[in-house]
Amino acid sequence: MKINIAIDGPSAAGKSTIAKILAKELGYAHLDTGAMYRCVGYYALQQKINIDDEEALVHMMEYMQISFDADGNVYINDQDVSKEIRQNEISMVASKVSAFPKVRKHLVRLQQEMAKDKGYIMDGRDIGTIVLPDAELKIYMVASVNARAKRRYKEYLEKHIEADYDVIFKDIEQRDYQDMNRKTSPLCKAKDAIELDTSDMTIEEVVSAIHKLMKEKL
Ligand code: DC
Repeated sequence: MKINIAIDGPSAAGKSTIAKILAKELGYAHLDTGAMYRCVGYYALQQKINIDDEEALVHMMEYMQISFDADGNVYINDQDVSKEIRQNEISMVASKVSAFPKVRKHLVRLQQEMAKDKGYIMDGRDIGTIVLPDAELKIYMVASVNARAKRRYKEYLEKHIEADYDVIFKDIEQRDYQDMNRKTSPLCKAKDAIELDTSDMTIEEVVSAIHKLMKEKL
């Protein structure tokens, strides 16, 4: 029997990495909802749309199609933007546009449509609370700012993306603040979510912990 798994938590806590591995092992589909907010931010900059103008962003989204392929690559109207949306500058823009209720409403609807059936692992900030409140397993993944900044820095270097550790550290702190303090669907732990602090855990340990939780649930 397939279930839906919601993984929420602050930026760079390892949600997408873990979700991707789990999805492959379980034969589930993975949806990285952060990538969708990143697409909105990235496309707005490309189209020279004012990122502080909610109505303009919503209008832009009507002409914008976000899609994923089986390998997790992300497309805006058939243009592969997988690498571009990962830039540090786009992280901050994504966090800003994600504070707008109408932007969220549009993306939440798309996410719920995509995951109509069971067998989804979705990661983001509001999956357990808003997008999939009925998910059978909800994980709230946290890690210290230091651990997260180190991971993100390493990831950027591996992907040959220019990076500065101090800038990444500060950006993570600022994004935590923005994501946790916005009015609409702020990042918070769902009542029935299980918290997992991954600061001192390896990827393998986190994956195995979630497998164990899944077995308990089923
Ligand atoms: O997971 P990420 O770092 O790629 O997400 C980028 C931004 O998008 C993040 O700062 C907050 C926002 N986001 C959100 O508000 N809700 C989600 N479900 C996913 C991401």
